[in-house]
Amino acid sequence: MTEHPTFGDFVLGFEGLAIVRSWGLHPEVVRARAESIAEVVARRGERPWSVPLDERERDMRAGYREWAGGYDRPDNPIVMAEEPVVREMLDACPAGAVLDAACGTGRWARYLAARGHSVRGIDATPEMLVEARRKVPEGRFEEGDLTDLPLAAESVELAVCTLALTHVPELAPAVQELARVVRPGGRVVISDVHPFMAMLGNHARYPRGQGEFGFVRNHVQQLSEYLAAFRAAGLAVLQCREPLWGKAELATLGFADERPGLLEAAVQGLPVVVVWELEKG
Ligand SMILES: C[S@@+](CC[C@H](N)C(=O)[O-])C[C@H]1O[C@@H](n2cnc3c(N)ncnc32)[C@H](O)[C@@H]1O
Repeated sequence: MTEHPTFGDFVLGFEGLAIVRSWGLHPEVVRARAESIAEVVARRGERPWSVPLDERERDMRAGYREWAGGYDRPDNPIVMAEEPVVREMLDACPAGAVLDAACGTGRWARYLAARGHSVRGIDATPEMLVEARRKVPEGRFEEGDLTDLPLAAESVELAVCTLALTHVPELAPAVQELARVVRPGGRVVISDVHPFMAMLGNHARYPRGQGEFGFVRNHVQQLSEYLAAFRAAGLAVLQCREPLWGKAELATLGFADERPGLLEAAVQGLPVVVVWELEKG
């Protein structure tokens, strides 16, 4: 018997969620999932159900240091759901001075530079910045923290902060900083893992080897907390979008074929990310 939870345990978690979501409305789904649970439990000593999953929490910098080289994979469901919505918001902004705060490997910095913006990128993890500098040679990247941005007040037309605020324990100081560096009338675009996902135990998880994963903790930031932080920072909400898990995102989860119908019942239709378009007053 392994000390680690197994792939079977992981799948059973989704089975339980599928039952809770189907209760009352879809008794046939409840029965099918209960039968599936019985089968997985009966075969839990066999592969693939017996395969141990070694999950290690890393602090933010250590996690992204490990993840930096493999971060830019095309099959990240969070990124897949987020990109079309953020792109739409960025496309509406005329070229100008832009901050990509917590820019990571420069996913959005590259997009913005290609659209004629003058891009500065800030991130706390040097290894992520190495990737960003390689990808966006025309950008200016430096180490810095979301709660203490190394930029003058009102120095950019647009500040972008994607998939990072969930790692700060308190939203308000980071939102204040984003608002401070934007000129009046300028925009702030924020995306993050949806709080509903964070409440369900989703963290920023990356593969470290066969059956080994690292993760950086996602803090739950409720939509009401965002709204309070925006109000305090003088940011008006222009748009709030909540794209949902669809078939394309589910297909990336790797075990979609193991239990037919499971991910559709457990996950499809839940919000993946929240995306905000804000204007500084
Ligand atoms: C999931 S990655 C997102 C990177 C990029 N914005 C994107 O959307 O692809 C999270 C990034 O946030 C950075 N980060 C987390 N907390 C930070 C903080 N307090 N200050 C600066 N960077 C931070 C990490 O180093 C990492 O590069």
